[in-house]
Amino acid sequence: MADTATPNVIRRADYAPPAFLIDTVALEFDLVPERTVVRNTMRVRRNPDASRTSNLELMGEQLEFVSAAIDGAAFASAHAHEHGLTLKNVPDDFELTLTSICNPAENTTLSGLYVSGGNFFTQCEAEGFRRITYFLDRPDVMATFTVTLRASKADYPVLLSNGNLLAEGDLPDGRHFARWEDPFRKPSYLFALVAGKLVALEERVTSGSGKEKLLQVWVEPHDLDKTRHAMDSLINSMRWDEQRFGLELDLDRFMIVAVSDFNMGAMENKGLNIFNTKYVLANPETATDTDFANIEAVVGHEYFHNWTGNRVTCRDWFQLSLKEGLTVFRDQEFSADMAGGAADEAARATKRIEDVRVLRQMQFAEDAGPMAHPVRPESYVEINNFYTMTVYEKGSEVVRMYQTLFGRDGFRKGMDLYFKRHDGQAVTCDDFRHALADANGRDLAQFERWYSQAGTPRVSVRTRYDAAQQRYSVTLTQAYGDAAPSARETQKGPLLIPFAIGLIGNDGHDLPLQLEGESKASDVTTRVLEFTQTEQTFTFVNVAQEPLPSLLRNFSAPVIVEYDYSADQLAFLLAHDSDPFNRWEAGQRLATRELLTLAGRAATGVPLQLDDSVVDAFARVLTDETLSPAFRELALMLPSEAYLAEQMAESNPAAVHAARQFVRKRLANALRKDWLAVYEKHRTPGAYEATPEASGHRALKNLALSYLAELDDPAEAVRLASAQYDTANNMTDRSAALSTLLNASAANGGSVEAQEALDDFYRRFEKEPLVIDKWFALQATQRGSAQRPVIETVRKLMAHPAFNLKNPNRARSLIFSFCAANPAQFHAEDGSGYAFWADQVIALDAINPQVAARLARSLELWRRFTPALRDGMRAALEKVASQAKSRDVREIVEKALA
Ligand code: TRP
Ligand code: ZN
Repeated sequence: MADTATPNVIRRADYAPPAFLIDTVALEFDLVPERTVVRNTMRVRRNPDASRTSNLELMGEQLEFVSAAIDGAAFASAHAHEHGLTLKNVPDDFELTLTSICNPAENTTLSGLYVSGGNFFTQCEAEGFRRITYFLDRPDVMATFTVTLRASKADYPVLLSNGNLLAEGDLPDGRHFARWEDPFRKPSYLFALVAGKLVALEERVTSGSGKEKLLQVWVEPHDLDKTRHAMDSLINSMRWDEQRFGLELDLDRFMIVAVSDFNMGAMENKGLNIFNTKYVLANPETATDTDFANIEAVVGHEYFHNWTGNRVTCRDWFQLSLKEGLTVFRDQEFSADMAGGAADEAARATKRIEDVRVLRQMQFAEDAGPMAHPVRPESYVEINNFYTMTVYEKGSEVVRMYQTLFGRDGFRKGMDLYFKRHDGQAVTCDDFRHALADANGRDLAQFERWYSQAGTPRVSVRTRYDAAQQRYSVTLTQAYGDAAPSARETQKGPLLIPFAIGLIGNDGHDLPLQLEGESKASDVTTRVLEFTQTEQTFTFVNVAQEPLPSLLRNFSAPVIVEYDYSADQLAFLLAHDSDPFNRWEAGQRLATRELLTLAGRAATGVPLQLDDSVVDAFARVLTDETLSPAFRELALMLPSEAYLAEQMAESNPAAVHAARQFVRKRLANALRKDWLAVYEKHRTPGAYEATPEASGHRALKNLALSYLAELDDPAEAVRLASAQYDTANNMTDRSAALSTLLNASAANGGSVEAQEALDDFYRRFEKEPLVIDKWFALQATQRGSAQRPVIETVRKLMAHPAFNLKNPNRARSLIFSFCAANPAQFHAEDGSGYAFWADQVIALDAINPQVAARLARSLELWRRFTPALRDGMRAALEKVASQAKSRDVREIVEKALA
């Protein structure tokens, strides 16, 4: 596994088609944990569209080579090496049979074939198939697969692979077999097998065209009571893709399998999706409302990949966003439709707000650091490091912009053309853009820049009202800020930015919109301006009064908007904007501005104060019963500490924490009665319901509880939280109560109530790993104090018998939660957090490079921090750079230090 040589850079510009193609693959597995024998028979031929080479170079890693045969005869000129197998002077068209051995029991990387909980699983994306057998392991080589699995029937009663079950039966010596066939050509990264002691929730449904489909959710026997929601989500996903995109399930059966050791969220293997248990298992006692929503989103995401990813796949890994950006967009739209239907804009907006919050907090930060890359990267060292916020979330925003430009119908036409042209092919982001352009009769050459430029664009807005002429002009300027130097270097010219705008009158209502040159006002009060030049002025005519502009409605492009709103104007927008996203946005702008001012003061020791007008603006949202509870919760939640720190000239987590806590306390004390009233009013007695309405009530109520815990005297909050903890019939309320108890007592170094609840929580859920993950995470993200720094708790928990560094969910619940979700404690001035981080990255590096590299990323913005912290961060990075062995971690830390 060690790869200490200077890492090789793979470049998009170097793409060349494969010298050989593989049309069919027949795999035979003799599954034994320490020694699995794989026989692989392939039909291979030269690629007519590639330059001729005499040798066939197959990729292979961590394999023990046994034998090679061509057309049935032993082949002597096969040379196995560290990166694969070289076959010298092969014929033009032949059958190749290879036998090799791998060791799934010792495979802690969770890439390739591995054992988890005594069962076998695979993970092949991006380059894991080469750890199973020698192959042309690249997505533009597509083959049909037949898979035969053989294993002990007692130990592995269930044997699954992609596609349809052809045959199964008993073998001598207590063994049995199953043979599967996937009728669709696919790249190797979509191969999967599962073998073990599993049970399934099954459902038979009829597809839109009347065909019967078998749906299964496979889990360990004790988890069968947590599969209903995943099954419902799968059925809803099927229906949605039929209705919204006319896309049907193409197989007779579709399987989801849950596994507790998994590097990411889930994987879209053809007909056999494999999921992290976190995104499958849920019942009201064990899963929160957020978990329920995430499961729906991830089940949808993987199901939607069947068309956007599997039927049409990527030519090479630089095109990753072709499938990921598009599929994230599809899952976001699915969740929005499930929450509010196509017409309920307010309900859809809550989903939009949540998605934009993630984008801004995570993707904008990525774009401002050493890992900044375009949606379609130009180069990589380790492809696993490029499953990023940029490829996924910004990629989704890029797809969304097509829909914003062409409307839902125009977008659908583009999708239809994309499938008509490219079904069964491995294609590029350009192919997708051309389909959208051609279906809508548009030239989208300029739009290509969204795929090739890194960095977050900034749009500055100037407005001018001419009362005499009744003209209102909006001048937009686009540029990249200082935060994205790499973006400015690669900049190729202005972007096509769909800029949605509305104008609001004195009474808070939208004004009619008539652009200069138009004969009358349009019948909509939001217009999408096509902003294509570096600077461009749009003039509205017949504007009877000076309006307040509502800019970038519904966040119509992934940009930063700069406009000098006054605090009063923001409060007005927060109260009146007809665009729910921008209502929320106004509150966030107001809060962000105040918080950054306060953080600046806290950093220099100046006493803090907050204007009453800000408190009043939040009070109005809190008490406005016409707004949905879900929206109020989002609007009343202050921007996160990580986001705020990112906005400072020099990130100062301690100052941000002090400022944010000051505001929370101020809002708590000033609005105590209102928080209490909201807490009482939004209880959800009776049986738990996972509906958006019920979860909105719980979210608002639990936010109120967390504010009440900030009161100078938290006794009342502690009483309420204790009672809520004891009587909760669902995990949302129970974990919120526990979190409040932990934080309410933080300043005093903990409380009896908090400790008792923690102990109770552990005992109650000892047998539920996903809930024990929450137990670790709640403690790692708790507030802490000077007498009781959280790092001490974290160190103690590392030695807890339930802690296990090899299980990614557990590692994330304790280590990542502390290093990436508790900035004020992690960035302690004594550098203790950084030393801990370095030790854990190095320890994980030897176990699981993919997970280690994710953790490694939590220091990449070190140059943007206050000088007092920078040295400690650099020292930790240098320590990791000198000791880490994997290509994954090395790429991250070397880029950070460069
Ligand atoms: N393609 C998967 C998805 O987004 C994610 C994925 C990529 C993945 N690489 C992985 C999952 C490695 C697990 C392990 O849906
Ligand atoms: Zn995906």
